[in-house]
Amino acid sequence: MTDDSIVLSCPVCTEPLTATQPTGRALACPAGHRFDAAKQGYFNLLTGRGTSFREDTSAMVEARAQFLAAGHYTPLAEALAEEAVSAHHGRIPRILDAGAGTGYYLDAVARAFDKAPGGRPESLALDISRYAMRRAAKLPRTRALVWDLWRRLPVADAGVDLVLDVFAPRNGAEFARVLAPGGHALVATPLPEHLGEAMGPLGLLSIGTGKGESVADALGQDFEPLHTRIVRTPLHLSDDDAVRLALMGPAGHHHDAAGIRERLAVHPVPQVVTAAFRIQVFRRR
Ligand SMILES: C[S@@+](CC[C@H](N)C(=O)[O-])C[C@H]1O[C@@H](n2cnc3c(N)ncnc32)[C@H](O)[C@@H]1O
Ligand SMILES: [Zn+2]
Repeated sequence: MTDDSIVLSCPVCTEPLTATQPTGRALACPAGHRFDAAKQGYFNLLTGRGTSFREDTSAMVEARAQFLAAGHYTPLAEALAEEAVSAHHGRIPRILDAGAGTGYYLDAVARAFDKAPGGRPESLALDISRYAMRRAAKLPRTRALVWDLWRRLPVADAGVDLVLDVFAPRNGAEFARVLAPGGHALVATPLPEHLGEAMGPLGLLSIGTGKGESVADALGQDFEPLHTRIVRTPLHLSDDDAVRLALMGPAGHHHDAAGIRERLAVHPVPQVVTAAFRIQVFRRR
């Protein structure tokens, strides 16, 4: 990695965490805390700490990767990329994708800077799922770390310029700490009507309108809301798409493909299902 690498912070002692030379297959801090890369290239910083969180399984992550690769959510990826480029006026941001999953949106956003001078941004993918981080680790100039977003993030103060959060937990205090002043947070959330037509047939968990705090409240006083963009897109889902859609979300912890197919035989998914998202752009004060 080059000098403009994102500075990591040791999860044990907060000192800088750097790649050990010459292979870069381990991260270590001056106090001697050390984390070896997994075979697939990601780093599990939660080793030895444990967590009560239930990670997305291999099958759930596989379903998500296939569903996204089919292009159903391309309009959201494109909108996020446009917002990132316009927020940074073509300057290359260091990017943190919080709850990155497979890194699909991170890749779309990073790619949007490919043609700018300086090229592909340095980026960091964090997720609690090892299966997700296996995939994100394959992206260029990307470090993938298994970590719990509700803990102190393993990133130096003001270490990144853009936080991307797509349907993932929002730790406002930590996002504020790791963002450089003037940096941005791009937060995507589903609208209440998201996938409405498919909820019943697929046995999905409803999104729960009005429940919980708003994104702005979660991010807190250090963030100035700049603007909001709605992305609405019709989905034409095959049965395979519909099964993947069901498996890739929280319902994937409770159902398997065979169960979902049985359900679809009785309650087919409508011809058109609406995906509806809100993107909110914030500036770190
Ligand atoms: C709905 S998925 C979205 C993934 C990705 N942003 C995308 O849109 O494809 C939510 C992600 O957040 C991760 N996640 C949930 N809670 C987390 C936590 N406490 N710490 C880190 N990641 C978490 C999950 O593993 C999952 O990959
Ligand atoms: Zn340390």
